[in-house]
Amino acid sequence: MVQVDASGSDVVPVGKSATEPIPRTTSCSTASTPVDALPIYGYTKYIKAIVESVGRSLAERLRMAVQEYARFIRESIKRPGRVGAIAPSTQRLATHMVRWIDWESVNTVVEYGPGTGVFTSEILRSKRPDAHFFAVELHSEFASALSEQYPDVPILEDSVANIEALCQQQGVTEVDAIICGLPWAAFSDSAQTEYLDAMMKVLKPGGQLATFAYLSGMVLPAAHRFRAKLKGYFGKVEASRTVWLNFPPAFIYRCWR
Ligand SMILES: C[S@@+](CC[C@H](N)C(=O)[O-])C[C@H]1O[C@@H](n2cnc3c(N)ncnc32)[C@H](O)[C@@H]1O
Repeated sequence: MVQVDASGSDVVPVGKSATEPIPRTTSCSTASTPVDALPIYGYTKYIKAIVESVGRSLAERLRMAVQEYARFIRESIKRPGRVGAIAPSTQRLATHMVRWIDWESVNTVVEYGPGTGVFTSEILRSKRPDAHFFAVELHSEFASALSEQYPDVPILEDSVANIEALCQQQGVTEVDAIICGLPWAAFSDSAQTEYLDAMMKVLKPGGQLATFAYLSGMVLPAAHRFRAKLKGYFGKVEASRTVWLNFPPAFIYRCWR
């Protein structure tokens, strides 16, 4: 380590050890040392502390990401037709799903099928602080992990088929926006209709829905059936560009009732 003496020189005097404390040569009468006179070895403690804390937070993030991924894989193997995905959505897809909503006008937002909560955190970042928010998740493992992660967000362990009763339970009469992670292409014709009919009972006229579809899933008849249904249920439906940074790549249906 190169040391700097109080005069600002970065050379270590010949015959002195690089680790030996360097005598202060300033005639400063107060106890504090002027910042420009601090020797570099004084900073190493701070640099070490910063590196350690960044390392700890990266390790913690990695540990949580691995846990979330493992939970997702476990559930998708147990219930392939219900989870309908092989990996949680990426942050990029979450941003595209959530950011286009006109958040200023949203008093109540509901998330359908949050899974490991990729969209949940983006919704919390985007919504007005006073807007009402709850999520509906069918599977208990996802629901209980999310409740622990977001203790202030009601995570209702139920099916979106019961959204009207769930809204009543939450004291909500109408919903302004729905962010939906349901695997529509994995659902039967009757399940698609049941969930959309139920949605129409709570989504107010002009209300917004964001839901995504995998590009690769568009080979499935159920995906085309769902696309056609959306056009029947909503006044305006747009499909976003493909979000390639997702596995598999996906696009978003933006719908206005
Ligand atoms: C494709 S995963 C999406 C998870 C997460 N939103 C994401 O993008 O990573 C579908 C989620 O919908 C949930 N789900 C499936 N059917 C449901 C239903 N009828 N009601 C509520 N959640 C449901 C599954 O348990 C799963 O968490």
